Amino acid sequence: RLLQNFRKKELLFKILIIGDYGVGKTSIIKRYADGTFSPSYKITIGADFAIKILNWDDNTRINVQLWDIAGHERFGYLTGVYYRYAVAAAIVFDLTRPETFKSVEKWLLDLRKKVNLPGGHPVPVVVLANKGDITIATLPEEIVNFCEKYNILAWFITSAKDDVHIDEAMITLINAAIEHH
Ligand code: GTP
Ligand code: MG
Repeated sequence: RLLQNFRKKELLFKILIIGDYGVGKTSIIKRYADGTFSPSYKITIGADFAIKILNWDDNTRINVQLWDIAGHERFGYLTGVYYRYAVAAAIVFDLTRPETFKSVEKWLLDLRKKVNLPGGHPVPVVVLANKGDITIATLPEEIVNFCEKYNILAWFITSAKDDVHIDEAMITLINAAIEHH
C-alpha cells in the first residue's frame, strides 16, 4: 500500500476564481475546500489560495490549488502575476446584482489577454451565477448567449451557502485541465 502511494502520479492544477468584489469567490472556495460557509463578508486583499487534494483514481492524486483573487484587483497590475501557470478558471458573478454579470466579460478579456495554456490554447473557463439561493435578477438567456459568444465551457447556478453545483463546476474544470494536460 505504501508502495502504491509512492507510485501515484501527482498532478498540480492551479485554478483561478475571479469576478467582482462580494460575488462569493472566497465563499465558493471555502465551501469546496473546507465544506463551510460564513454569512459575514470579509473582503479579500490581493490574493489568497486554498488546496484541495483529490484521489482522482487509483493511480492519480490531484492537488487542486484554488486561487482566490480579490474582486478589486481587476485593474491592478498584479493580476498577470496571479494568473501565471493557471490551467482553468471560474468567473463568478452575483445573480442578485446584474452589474456583476456585465463585468464577467471584462474579467474574461483580461484573463485571455494575460494567460494561455502552454500549447497556446485558451484557458478553459466556467461561469458561475452565484447566490442562486436568493432572488434571480439576471436572465439565464443573457448568460447562455454570452457563453456561446465566448466559447465558455459551461455555466452553473451555484450557491456557496446551500452547496449547490460547486462540486460539478470544479469537476468540469478539472476534467478540462486533464484533457489539456
Ligand atoms: P472579494 O473578496 O471582495 O472579492 O469578495 P468575494 O467574491 O470573495 O465574496 P465573499 O465570498 O466574501 O462573499 C461576499 C458576501 O456574500 C458574504 O457575506 C457571503 O456570506 C455572501 N455569499 C457568498 N456566497 C453566497 C451564496 O451562495 N448565497 C448567499 N446567500 N450569500 C452568499
Ligand atoms: Mg474574497
